[in-house]
Amino acid sequence: MSATGTSSKTSADEIYADLAVRLQRIVPDFELRYKAELAAEVNRLKIEKNALILGHNYMEAALFHSVADITGDSLGLCREAARTDRDRIVFCGVRFMAETAKILNPDRIVLLPSAVGGCSLAASIGAADVRRLKQRYPGVPVVVYVNTYAEVKAEADYCCTSSNAAAVIEAIGADTVLFLPDEYLAANVARETSRDIVVVGPADIDSAPSVFRSPTVIGWSGRCEVHEKFTVGDVQAARRQFPDVVILAHPECSPEVVEASDFSASTAQMSRYVRQSDAPHYLLLTECAMGDNVAAENPDKDMLRLCSLRCPHMNEITLEDTLEALKLDRYRIEVPEPIRSRARRSIDRMLAIG
Ligand code: 13P
Ligand code: SF4
Repeated sequence: MSATGTSSKTSADEIYADLAVRLQRIVPDFELRYKAELAAEVNRLKIEKNALILGHNYMEAALFHSVADITGDSLGLCREAARTDRDRIVFCGVRFMAETAKILNPDRIVLLPSAVGGCSLAASIGAADVRRLKQRYPGVPVVVYVNTYAEVKAEADYCCTSSNAAAVIEAIGADTVLFLPDEYLAANVARETSRDIVVVGPADIDSAPSVFRSPTVIGWSGRCEVHEKFTVGDVQAARRQFPDVVILAHPECSPEVVEASDFSASTAQMSRYVRQSDAPHYLLLTECAMGDNVAAENPDKDMLRLCSLRCPHMNEITLEDTLEALKLDRYRIEVPEPIRSRARRSIDRMLAIG
């Protein structure tokens, strides 16, 4: 959850000097000079407007290393959002993340530097779907991934992130849980918590099995449009080419890909793993920008790039948009009552677990 000293600097020359040390092997020099000018303006406005910038691990390297006061995964940023006393939060991430910050801070201005900032998982399920599932499975606890919109969190008993999904399920202590909406994360968590997995989709809620002989995770047919595309073939090809590579997969990848990899966890946990290991080569099966950010923090380690797959939603957020967001106080995130307070319950229950 590092805040680099750079995020409080307002001189373009000083920011450039910091970026050049960290990113010279990753971003061309002329680009760094241009980004440093933008970052200086962002940091000046940030102070003037008493704003906090949260940067998800998927943000472009120049943004991540210059203006973000706090960086991290969904869980870490959610915790920081709950703690701040600044007037404004600018969330450099996607809409569901900014919404979570607003749910935790109804009286602060929360800005998303993009008009849309979507996510295929968040788009895969609505509140009506959850209500239908609750009718089909009365009394079964509902856990929703943080990658959902407020109205879905409002229908849930618990929220979770990739960092604490298994811990939340264990803490609930029920044999069977609804775990929505990522079918791959559900399957990975089912394996981790020794449960069976059943996946239900919008077309088969009424015909899906409703009696389970052993502890079961009931998942939903949502997928991350990025992580679903990594294959076991990709993992095998990387190992053939680089026999000593350590492969880290986000748990939104399929269970087969996770199984074929060396480590699987949230974005922050993957970063920590690389920091604490001494292998020479790493491959991250996740959004490519994170490879740049991890490479910058580990100059002695070689990060292989797999950048044909990008998250188009995370890539909407740039330093330019962050500057405009601060200048124009846009795009403001609003979450109406009573959805906000109902969604907050599920987030608070998660934060209480860990
Ligand atoms: P993390 O919670 O691991 O940061 O992941 C968020 C995400 O959207 C992954 O695709
Ligand atoms: Fe959503 Fe996947 Fe993008 Fe993460 S990488 S924000 S899960 S679409």
